[in-house]
Amino acid sequence: MNSTAKIADMFSGITKVYDALNDIMTFGLTRIWRMYASQAVLKGKKDDFIVLDLAIGTGYMTGRMLKDSKGSIKVVGCDVTRAMLLSASKNLGNGVPLVLGDGKFLPFRDGSFNSVVSAFSLRSFIEEGHEKLLFEIKRTLKEGGSIVLVDTGKPQGNFMKAFFYVYMKIIKQLGGLYDKKSYDWLANSIWTLDPNDFRRAMIRAGYESEVFSLPFGVPYLFVGRKN
Ligand SMILES: C[S@@+](CC[C@H](N)C(=O)[O-])C[C@H]1O[C@@H](n2cnc3c(N)ncnc32)[C@H](O)[C@@H]1O
Repeated sequence: MNSTAKIADMFSGITKVYDALNDIMTFGLTRIWRMYASQAVLKGKKDDFIVLDLAIGTGYMTGRMLKDSKGSIKVVGCDVTRAMLLSASKNLGNGVPLVLGDGKFLPFRDGSFNSVVSAFSLRSFIEEGHEKLLFEIKRTLKEGGSIVLVDTGKPQGNFMKAFFYVYMKIIKQLGGLYDKKSYDWLANSIWTLDPNDFRRAMIRAGYESEVFSLPFGVPYLFVGRKN
């Protein structure tokens, strides 16, 4: 199995508990972090605005954007895990087209989207490198389109490092009650996303880019534009 297939297999196993455990483990903060991502996407909104929610999971990010935009945008969802797409379709209904696909080989034409957003998926792409993903997203964006990515990454500073070292042990214990291997991976992977390295990768891929630290923890919001 290649690393993408392993990741899809892992997310299939935790689809049913994913949202509930996320809320418990982050005290609901992922909802607030997605709100920041939604605001960044909608900042550039214009007529006929179409957004790709890449790695849509159970559809939470899309639900947030549809609510914030009062349904005035069109969203297409894509994910590599079939079980996640089934869950998204239950949560979102028929209004959001859902496509099975790998973020590194997106099944969409060049210049399809005004914005591509992805929440909490960057760590899944580390093993095969972010550059392929960033170039592929750029291909599917219209000129001037935006890329908005939010994910938890490496804590900065000694206090935060120590805090997250202990906190991730708790996450592993809690998630381990359901699926030890997957929650070990999810907890360990926060150390693999370095916000400065990722921003440099965005610049190398040809985006104008900014990185913001979001409140309460170690989430980073990366916002870029295709020139
Ligand atoms: C941590 S979940 C995040 C889901 C959702 N975006 C959210 O806000 O909760 C990561 C998602 O990335 C998807 N994923 C992982 N690797 C992928 C890839 N190569 N292409 C597309 N989706 C991928 C997984 O199937 C999973 O649904």
